[in-house]
Amino acid sequence: MSEKHPGVGHLTPPLGGWEVGVVILAIESSCDETSAAVCVDGKILSNHIANQTVHEKYGGVVPELASRAHMQNIVPVVDIALKNAFPQLQTPDSRLQTINAIAFTNSPGLIGSLLVGAQFAKSLALSLGKPLIAVHHMQAHVLANLIGDPRPSFPFLCLTVSGGHTQIVLARSPLQLEVIGETIDDAAGEAFDKTAKLLGLPYPGGPLVDRYAKEGDPLAFKFSQPQIPGLDFSFSGLKTSVLYFLQKQPQGFIEEHLADLCASVQYTIIQILIKKLKKAVDQTGVKEVCIAGGVSANSGLRTALQETGAQLGWRTYIPAFQYCTDNAAMIAITAYYKYQAGQFASLDASPTARAEW
Ligand code: KG4
Ligand code: ZN
Repeated sequence: MSEKHPGVGHLTPPLGGWEVGVVILAIESSCDETSAAVCVDGKILSNHIANQTVHEKYGGVVPELASRAHMQNIVPVVDIALKNAFPQLQTPDSRLQTINAIAFTNSPGLIGSLLVGAQFAKSLALSLGKPLIAVHHMQAHVLANLIGDPRPSFPFLCLTVSGGHTQIVLARSPLQLEVIGETIDDAAGEAFDKTAKLLGLPYPGGPLVDRYAKEGDPLAFKFSQPQIPGLDFSFSGLKTSVLYFLQKQPQGFIEEHLADLCASVQYTIIQILIKKLKKAVDQTGVKEVCIAGGVSANSGLRTALQETGAQLGWRTYIPAFQYCTDNAAMIAITAYYKYQAGQFASLDASPTARAEW
């Protein structure tokens, strides 16, 4: 591996005899989480995340405030990630010297947020004289399934469900990922957050719907499911269906039936997702099935995937909770594969808000 780049090496002296391989520092700043992670030969040593609570009172992420919060958080977050990865090293310099490459999220995301992470990563790469690796956020969500064990073997299918995306991805190898289905309007996370808002819940509503749904009856209320051909999804109709339903109800209805409403909304979203996943398995014949992205933290979806898999003979995989929502560990693992393939970015790399695969 050391031929690929001069930055590669085995770092015995500063680590007191502990031999390590390729050390990657990864940075994620695409939306409202500032995160840094360190991995060694694809094994995650640390993954630190600073959540931005500033957006709660606005009912959604405010891009300008997100960029400012990233500015504030990024240096301390990287410092903590390096300290957690290498507790035996006493100084910032000795920890920085362990790094073989610096990775950052290049797209998609909020442009101001992406710029903060990219600029920090590029400056650090220049000052340390180490290579830079640009990572696609959605590809990283998929590869979060390769952190830890058990992990899927290739080819596998991944349902990636986040606040901005809903996709079914066919992964042939770590760097050969193909989107075979996606939403034509809202993402699954948006469906959770927008219906949660209609129910008077604060942003982001997804985790709260999950919590209330545990006490409710998923069949209490019936909401419409879209009839979209192929492997694509649509969620905008669900929000309208919930809105019209609530408009017909008397005062106090939501408070009285909150758990049942959450359970029914969650059930509908899960039905839509699992139906398409079954179709994707039928079409591809691939029975290694993963989920990823913020909505894969949803307890109902996790259970539905496991139950469907058990019924239909799939092998199913779900990332640990901390690797479902936005995190830098998934950027680090993706960067590790790009490092091995020699896919480095130049110092004039510039993030983009939207990016094709
Ligand atoms: O992947 P992610 O952290 O950020 C994006 O890349 O968008 O996903 C955030 C989304 C939000 O819509 C949030 O409400 C949803 O994931 N989410 C959940 C749960 N945890 C996070 N939705 C349903 N149930 C959950 N437990
Ligand atoms: Zn994400």
